[in-house]
Amino acid sequence: MKKKALFAGLAAGAMIIGLAACSSGTTPASSSGAGDGGLIGVAMPTKSSERWIADGDAVKSQLEAEGFKVDLQYAEDDIPTQVSQIENMITKGAEVLIVASIDGTTLTSVLQDAADANIPVIAYDRLIRDTKNVNYYASFDNLKVGQQQAWSVLNGLGLTELDGTAVAGAPAGPFNVELFAGSPDDNNATFFFNGAMQELQPFIDSGVLVVKSGQTDFNTVATLRWDGEEAQSRLENILTSTYSDGSKVNGILSPYDGISRGIISALQGAGYTLDASWPVISGQDAEIDSVKAINSGEQYATIFKDTRQLAAVAVKMAIAVLNGGTPETNNSTDYDNGKIVVPSMLLDSQIVVKDNIPSVLIDSGYWTEAEING
Ligand code: GAL
Repeated sequence: MKKKALFAGLAAGAMIIGLAACSSGTTPASSSGAGDGGLIGVAMPTKSSERWIADGDAVKSQLEAEGFKVDLQYAEDDIPTQVSQIENMITKGAEVLIVASIDGTTLTSVLQDAADANIPVIAYDRLIRDTKNVNYYASFDNLKVGQQQAWSVLNGLGLTELDGTAVAGAPAGPFNVELFAGSPDDNNATFFFNGAMQELQPFIDSGVLVVKSGQTDFNTVATLRWDGEEAQSRLENILTSTYSDGSKVNGILSPYDGISRGIISALQGAGYTLDASWPVISGQDAEIDSVKAINSGEQYATIFKDTRQLAAVAVKMAIAVLNGGTPETNNSTDYDNGKIVVPSMLLDSQIVVKDNIPSVLIDSGYWTEAEING
């Protein structure tokens, strides 16, 4: 209780002096004095995607190693379930909440209850919107993730290097591409799409890339709840309506491995085979089935975001706020949630293609060779 009161005072002070005071290059949050046996609530969106299971496991085990008790809950992408899980965590006396939201705009009321109980809130990977009651944000550089997704597609088509630099003597195209975005209620989806379009638009403007379906608007290409089956049926419709003249789609911007798998199913269903005409497909999360698909050539690339590192950032943030300190952050400008700019710690992501699976995913211990080849 004492710690919570101290935190509330500090938080109020931080509001007054301005959250822009949080800056990069600060000393990492100390983990000394952690683990008083208190309870931390961890709310995750769904177990249907393997990445969130890895995130939940990593946050839980790291908190337990620091001596905390952990209430880890998954809401199976059902918003009322997530709200009531968070409500329960508050009732049980959680000292901090770490929340990966389903819909970033639906937690305003429950987080007011958390604020009334002086419980600090850390938004995990997805920004929580429309509330001042979110204290910190742990994520990746989401705009950059989107750029990397575009560079994956451009690289697969021979147009740029993986870091986006132009390739001398690149083909003139035109290449047919189709675009997919993530869930419109997830703040990240807009960042990924905007980052990707920043890189793709010049090629569209010059005619090297052609979005043959004409579907380029975020709301048209968005995929509610990141659902692979929804993406599959959207692509099936596009292939029927736009490509039945015998033309082929050459590249597909996908923001997430689960969506990429839906895309692959649609292509197979439409008779595409794994030869020179198979399109370049991007992804995100380095989920095991998609890493296998990269190995077999069905998917060109994914974006690796190390969930163990993200968990470590969130755990450090929790410990720092419980100790009355200020967690390390490196961005105080980009994540305006509609009420406040949330001080953020953004990690780097990496593009994974077939060639660097061993160095990026196996050497780091994220996946074993047996898991990938099994
Ligand atoms: C996003 C997240 C992505 C991906 C997606 C679908 O919020 O940043 O990495 O996991 O959700 O789960």
